[in-house]
Amino acid sequence: MKKRIFGNWKMNGSLAANAALVDALAQGVHVGACEIAVCAPAPYLAQLQSLLDGSSIAIGAQDVSAHADGAFTGEISAAMLRDFGVRYVLVGHSERRQYHAESDELVARKAQAALVCGITPVVCVGETLAQREAGETEAVVRRQLAAVVQVNGHCLSEIVLAYEPVWAIGTGRTATPEQAQAVHAVLRAQLLAATTSAGRIPILYGGSMNAANAAELLAQPDIDGGLVGGASLKAADFLRIVACAQ
Ligand code: PGA
Repeated sequence: MKKRIFGNWKMNGSLAANAALVDALAQGVHVGACEIAVCAPAPYLAQLQSLLDGSSIAIGAQDVSAHADGAFTGEISAAMLRDFGVRYVLVGHSERRQYHAESDELVARKAQAALVCGITPVVCVGETLAQREAGETEAVVRRQLAAVVQVNGHCLSEIVLAYEPVWAIGTGRTATPEQAQAVHAVLRAQLLAATTSAGRIPILYGGSMNAANAAELLAQPDIDGGLVGGASLKAADFLRIVACAQ
């Protein structure tokens, strides 16, 4: 299976900065090497749709409404994302769970809304430092994934999963390859038990992935790619991670 390297720009960028970044990425990426996506803030999706027309780099969004349409001021539906060529959408990123009180159940319904419109949800799970120190890592990620399985069991093979330990996000403190692999193996077993489809569901690692640690992480048997935050904002850094995935 091709590795996947997805950039999560978070709330960063501008028309000028995005154009420069995408231009540098397009020049540095070799077709077919691995599956690459950039998850941009919603106002820039139209810009990316035009910049990435004909490119092998896919467009991702960072959130989606659980609702199809209607009186939900400020929300963005999956159908709207699809209008702008969005192929992937992050759901349940820990920053959404933490700052916007997104529940496991809401995250599951967001994944469902994306799937209905043919957009692949990248479902993010991960424990906080306090949960890890209390020995709760496995229970937390299993609970987060179980909610998604319960709502989307019939099309589970269409999702991408991302394990992002909250304590590793934006902190420079990466999970060791062994720590990450251990959790990925737990998630892999849970996915295998929940789906009858033979296809392997990609599980990405995210949390301070960078050019120096990517190769070792990506060499783990159950790590199928990376979800890259900070290092996705600099073309050279992102391309170095992409090179590790080839
Ligand atoms: P980071 O972010 O690479 O900056 O730690 C990863 C993420 O939040 O997706």
